[in-house]
Amino acid sequence: MSVPVAPGRLPLLGHTVSLLRGRADFTEALREHGEIVEVDLGPVPTYFVTSARFTHQVLVTDGAKFRKGLLFERFRPYLGNGLALSEGSFHRRQRRMMQPAFTRDRIAQYAEAMVRAATDLVDTWRPGEPRVVENDMQALAVTVVGETLFSTEIGQRAIAEIRRSVFDVLRNGAVRALSPAFVARLPIPVNRKFDQAAERMRAIVLEVIESWRAEGADHGDLLSTLLLAHDEESGEGMSDQQVYDEVITLLTAGIETSAVALGWLFHELAQHPEVERRVHAEVDEVLAGRPVAFGDLPRLGYLYQVVNEVLRKYPIWILMRKAVEPVDLAGTVLPAGAEVIVSPHLVHHDPAHHPDPERFDPDRWAGDRAATLPRGAFVPFGGGARQCIGNVFAQTEIVIALATVAARWRLVQVPGTRARAKFTTAAYPVDLLMTPVPRT
Ligand code: HEM
Repeated sequence: MSVPVAPGRLPLLGHTVSLLRGRADFTEALREHGEIVEVDLGPVPTYFVTSARFTHQVLVTDGAKFRKGLLFERFRPYLGNGLALSEGSFHRRQRRMMQPAFTRDRIAQYAEAMVRAATDLVDTWRPGEPRVVENDMQALAVTVVGETLFSTEIGQRAIAEIRRSVFDVLRNGAVRALSPAFVARLPIPVNRKFDQAAERMRAIVLEVIESWRAEGADHGDLLSTLLLAHDEESGEGMSDQQVYDEVITLLTAGIETSAVALGWLFHELAQHPEVERRVHAEVDEVLAGRPVAFGDLPRLGYLYQVVNEVLRKYPIWILMRKAVEPVDLAGTVLPAGAEVIVSPHLVHHDPAHHPDPERFDPDRWAGDRAATLPRGAFVPFGGGARQCIGNVFAQTEIVIALATVAARWRLVQVPGTRARAKFTTAAYPVDLLMTPVPRT
């Protein structure tokens, strides 16, 4: 039997920005208004879905009734028609062509670059010399995606440029996407920085593609997979522009997300000595002093629990969709054209599914407890046809970074400092000032 759900209405005009910029108190308050809350974001009817069951319905069961929403469209000027924004049969075709870059075997190869990058980072740490951990984790995430994308010599130049420019593109791009459209055209510093950084990245990525085409060899990197891919139905490959859009999409989708998770991970470890102790015990037992390798991962079960808990507590704030046909959510019919917002943050902090949700507790994921959660209650990587293509990549990267750090160092918060969360499309960790202390 269907349960009728009356959409509540909130006078939100003044709150649009807080909603889109992820204010915890504001989004949490929506839950009290029901499972579907109509929010006032302008002329288009917009509904915020607050429950796990409807989150699952929007993302998975009825996923085909939606396109990507308003927020994503604002990123189109620089993400082009890459995987995150393409739709319908073109999206399916691109996804098929890119999937081979994310198979277990490929990720096992990328794992070597991940271990190298994490080892190089911790090699630069000195006992007692404080680190700004969010910066270290951003640098690590850039190196990991950069090295897996581009393994050639010219690729190294591209990685250097990406290191220099990608955060200007990401940060200023997010500000532009969340501002009224005319703001993007104003000659203000945020736009100048964005345009210059985006142009520098564009030039070097196109240069790498051109040099690859001249040579035509498979280097075993992600770029080679994109350039060698052929659609099994039409036999067609990707144009240079499409490869470029996919590369920029992977850089955008794959760097900051992982960096945020890594930053909070080390923050939480420092706050929870018992969790840290168990991480050390598992790493010592499994690795016995060796560097971590892909083959070790199945035996690092507690580390995966810790990573799951970080992804639960600090996920992406909101995902948006636009209904292309009417959608029936247990009796409440959302009209075609409606914008629908689902919030991984909100369902991950729903006490009905995650008791005492602010508590960091990796034991939530012990044994098969995850399997008992209702669908839609844990969606760090979204779900359905648009689920994150990099989910295994990201988990592998984070577990490898954790194992590499934990084998040699503890990170201790600098006394008198306090980590903060800065909210945009996720809660970004800031002021993670921590001192590396060698483990004996
Ligand atoms: C902890 C790290 C990560 C998190 C939390 C994350 C989260 C997500 C989420 C929630 C989506 C779905 C968006 C939607 O439904 O609208 C997504 C899509 C995507 N992610 Fe990730 N992601 C992470 C890492 C990565 C990495 C490392 C890569 C690539 C190397 C990547 C590439 C992508 C791409 C290309 C899409 C679009 C997929 C499609 O629409 O077919 N992500 N990610």
